[in-house]
Amino acid sequence: MLLRMGEERLLGAHECRLIGDTKEVSQFLVAPNGPLQGSLAIAGAKNSVLKIMAAAILAEGTTILRNVPEIRDVEIMAEMLTALGLSVRRLDGGLLEIVTPRTQQIVPEAPYELVEKMRASIVVLGPLLARCGRAKVSLPGGDNFGSRPIDFHLNALEEMGTTFTVAHGIIHGKVASGRLRGAAMVLPFPSHTTTDNLLMAAVLAEGTTIIDNAAQEPEVVDLAAFLSAMGARIEGAGTGRITVTGVSSLGAVTHDIIPDRVVAATFFVATAIAGGKVEVVGAKAEHMESLLRKLEHMGVSLQPSSNGVQVEAPGRLKATDLATLPYPGVATDYTPFLVAALATAEGVSFVTENLFAGRFRYVDELLRMGADIRTDGHHLVIRGVEQLSGARVKSHDIRAGAAVMLAGLSADGETTIDDAGHLDRGYENLPLQLNSLGASVVRLS
Ligand code: EPU
Repeated sequence: MLLRMGEERLLGAHECRLIGDTKEVSQFLVAPNGPLQGSLAIAGAKNSVLKIMAAAILAEGTTILRNVPEIRDVEIMAEMLTALGLSVRRLDGGLLEIVTPRTQQIVPEAPYELVEKMRASIVVLGPLLARCGRAKVSLPGGDNFGSRPIDFHLNALEEMGTTFTVAHGIIHGKVASGRLRGAAMVLPFPSHTTTDNLLMAAVLAEGTTIIDNAAQEPEVVDLAAFLSAMGARIEGAGTGRITVTGVSSLGAVTHDIIPDRVVAATFFVATAIAGGKVEVVGAKAEHMESLLRKLEHMGVSLQPSSNGVQVEAPGRLKATDLATLPYPGVATDYTPFLVAALATAEGVSFVTENLFAGRFRYVDELLRMGADIRTDGHHLVIRGVEQLSGARVKSHDIRAGAAVMLAGLSADGETTIDDAGHLDRGYENLPLQLNSLGASVVRLS
């Protein structure tokens, strides 16, 4: 684990770099070890906590977040907030404390080194413009999914009164009147992070903002709940139309982060691939309905338990077709795991990736493991083989790395995963967690 439990410490820039240097861990070795058994608890959602940490910029005072996952991306966001003039400390028991100073003490400049490490850093733009009336944020580059534009963010914030100029790779945003103004807008696509950024911008704007075609993810609802507890006036979070009536100031609060549905999905699919019976404690079935239905088509049994969801694998999985869509559709983040599972399912599956066309790099790794998958643009045709064979593969991003790790659970022989440091960006310690269920995954340094 990158951060040791039970230790109170500052997450300042210097210390974060020491603790979070994922370069020292770059390889995992997976060996098949039979079915998984037992129970495992999941922590708070990465894609919720990162935005809620950024939202702490909006109010002076002390924010306490509970159920914060011990992952590298949280450390990077802590470094970002530190660079902006906030202070961030991890406390015992999954708590994170963020102290936000007076507006004059905030430095509204997000440095390239941090934006480049984590594209989600763009979510500081909305809160900085709302609180300080100006912001400088380095343009994020491309990543392993291909090009990830931010035009929706900039266009919508312009409608709210920001003027942007871009020079030397840095976006300079300035709110002409000093305070953002509410606007009615229709997003070209229900983009998750754009919706987050606009929510955080709108809560302190003058007047009413209406976001149509808004993202409906549970993490957007969590952010809205946090902002509402701070005193924001938000209606419709979790639907395609969100209405925000701006207020003049917000107060710092304590908030529980919702469980990570993508981590829960990882353990559902791990069990489906390796076989066995596992209880995923904290998993919220109501956040993952389309995934649960898809897994049921594949023959997996999923039963709500008092603490979460109980998952039980069938003999051999069945093929199914799927297409990724914004929530409540099947999330793009689940697809690499599902494709790894379908690689050995009985029959032919047809998969369409509608969000990130460049997200199929993990398919080449599954091919190295003997999968029969044909890629055509943003479609895959998967002919299930009896068994994959362990090979040396690469982790191209967080979910791609998890997918090849899951594939290795039932492959013939050992699978070595290079560039495995990606996994620590989004998982607390996936090898350790899988081993607690009976898997055999070793971290090589
Ligand atoms: N898009 C634009 N312009 C923009 C913004 C988005 O064209 O200004 C396009 C994207 O290129 C993409 C689509 O809109 O084709 C949807 O992207 P979205 O903005 O919804 O994605 P995101 O907010 O950048 C978040 C998660 C991703 C997850 C996607 C989709 C965070 C930090 N990231 O990304 O999670 O895949 O939503 O659900 O919330 C992960 O956790 O590993 C991860 C990649």
